[in-house]
Amino acid sequence: MRLGVNIDHVATLRQARRGKYPDPVAAAAVAELGGADQITLHVREDRRHVNDRDLSLLRQTVNGTLNLEMAAVQAMVDLALHERPDTCTLVPERREELTTEGGLDAIGHRDEVRRVTRALRDGGIEVSLFIDPDLEQIKASHRADAQAVELHTGRYCEARGAEERKRELSRLVDAAKAAGKLGLRVAAGHGLDYWNVKPVAGIDEIGELNIGYAIVCRAVLVGLERAVRDMKELIARPGRA
Ligand code: PXP
Repeated sequence: MRLGVNIDHVATLRQARRGKYPDPVAAAAVAELGGADQITLHVREDRRHVNDRDLSLLRQTVNGTLNLEMAAVQAMVDLALHERPDTCTLVPERREELTTEGGLDAIGHRDEVRRVTRALRDGGIEVSLFIDPDLEQIKASHRADAQAVELHTGRYCEARGAEERKRELSRLVDAAKAAGKLGLRVAAGHGLDYWNVKPVAGIDEIGELNIGYAIVCRAVLVGLERAVRDMKELIARPGRA
């Protein structure tokens, strides 16, 4: 199981004082030492945490893959084609939200998603769509010519009680199977932590998890390298809740 470490939250801390530290670029290097296979970052249109300088330096320094989360808009396409991350994950973006709240609507925004996907793929960048674990969204992602989907695990993570959690996990299982059958590479993420990750890591079709908040929060107490290593060990031995 590949682990993408989302370093946005390190940049959020830096922006609290608008200074130089902690530097998400340094954090990415340490995350890689801890076993991160990928560095994930979300350059928001309002640049509220990660900025263009971070993306540019990360492109030059990250050894594994670089995954840029972005809105499906032309300004971000231009930036991506300039910096050339390995993967672009298209996400919905609303300025007032605290974090990405729901999946991308690949049905409602069919034309722009398709156009942006084409432009990025023509630039040699893999395109993944961050969608809810919903069959219609998976089919729409396939029709839009995306090569991958990232299944939104938020509802699973927020489920209250064993029954609801089981139901949400089975939605993820069904969605991962359907996406795999269509030949899409399958990732998952949002809200995963050290207590809820194992059942998701145990879904065969899912090959990558993108995790940020829980890792950065643990890093405050134990250090980033250990926090990444702890997560990497957990997801390498999945299936036990
Ligand atoms: N994947 C995507 C597409 C996201 O937008 C986010 C949040 O930025 C994550 C994964 C990571 O979520 P979390 O920080 O809750 O682990």
